[in-house]
Amino acid sequence: MTVPSPVADGFGRPLKSLRVSVTDRCNLRCGYCMPESEYIWLPRSSVLSFEEIDRLVGIFASLGVDKIRLTGGEPLLRQELPTLVAALAKQPSISEIALTTNAVLLPRHAEALRAAGLDRVTVSLDTVRADRYATFAKATRFEAAVEGIDAARSAGFPRLKINAVVVRGFNDDELVDLLEFATQRGAEVRYIEYMDVGGATGWSLDQVVSQREILATLAATYGSIEAVPDGAKSSAPAQRFRLADGRTFGIIASTTVPFCRTCDRARITADGYLYLCLYADTGLPLRDLVRSGASDDEIRGTIADAWRARRDRGAEERVQLRSRNVLHGVEELRADPHREMHTRGG
Ligand code: GTP
Ligand code: 5AD
Ligand code: SF4
Repeated sequence: MTVPSPVADGFGRPLKSLRVSVTDRCNLRCGYCMPESEYIWLPRSSVLSFEEIDRLVGIFASLGVDKIRLTGGEPLLRQELPTLVAALAKQPSISEIALTTNAVLLPRHAEALRAAGLDRVTVSLDTVRADRYATFAKATRFEAAVEGIDAARSAGFPRLKINAVVVRGFNDDELVDLLEFATQRGAEVRYIEYMDVGGATGWSLDQVVSQREILATLAATYGSIEAVPDGAKSSAPAQRFRLADGRTFGIIASTTVPFCRTCDRARITADGYLYLCLYADTGLPLRDLVRSGASDDEIRGTIADAWRARRDRGAEERVQLRSRNVLHGVEELRADPHREMHTRGG
């Protein structure tokens, strides 16, 4: 086994976590992520094979990555995903493999994913009202997502999380209901501030419900709330809180209180572009290297150089803007679909 030689970026941040998008397709159309009626999809021939992903993950692991998160689009739309999980689980330097999913296809795949070595599942679910779900996500029944969450529990996934993006005028009246729903399902809810990332073409600052406001709303029902201290070296985007009755929840305040200072994550798109920041405008086409016969050492060198030169702090820069508006217009997204959140892996 090669001993990982961790790299640090221009601000001293190590490379520890890799988000791997396995497909840009999605079976839902959430309004904060895919509000348009038409999209430009990545050509199928450009999408990395499992062998290519496994090889890249091995190279990233040799640079310090020990945590993999599989994302999309909806990652369960990728055929045979457990086969990829099983391959990644064999890599000795990878200590955790997680999945971010909308859960709709989990009843079919949860058992196989667990057996293949998937460690954790995070479900994106923004509303517990069936009518809202149908209107907002535009594709399926709310019950399908609930069945998926239950399937994840039955399959034995620990520390199940539910991610809810909070959008004013859509689901900001459901903060308590979401917490109660998560409790019933044995999960922890994490409220996410609506972000002005690519794809969110309907974003506006007044629709953002801030961490401060989320806490005030919850306190009105539950009383005092205390912050759970971060672990010593935490780079997690969520700040966790505890209610007086002991229940915990998280808030991901990327929009108003960014966490770029500790950001240790890189992401690769389904077609093998490396992005050093969720907000970065350009990526590095690792796929071209992989398919041109480059050696592992050459690819490792390219990734290490890119990480050493990294000075991205996209969310913090956005906070400093005088007037904050959508990041990309529709034309810019069409010109480069890699700017989309569903391509970049959320
Ligand atoms: P764990 O901490 O491992 O549970 O996962 P995570 O919170 O890193 O991943 P998850 O996929 O659950 O992401 C939750 C939300 O955090 C996403 O929906 C984004 O809104 C936000 N997020 C994820 N990655 C980044 C990032 O690199 N930068 C910023 N600014 N926000 C991010
Ligand atoms: N703001 C915040 N979170 C978003 N996601 C997608 N688009 C946005 C946005 N504009 C989230 C999804 C999912 C994760 C992968 O990214 O809800 O939880
Ligand atoms: Fe990391 Fe960029 Fe997100 Fe900041 S905005 S936390 S640097 S990915």
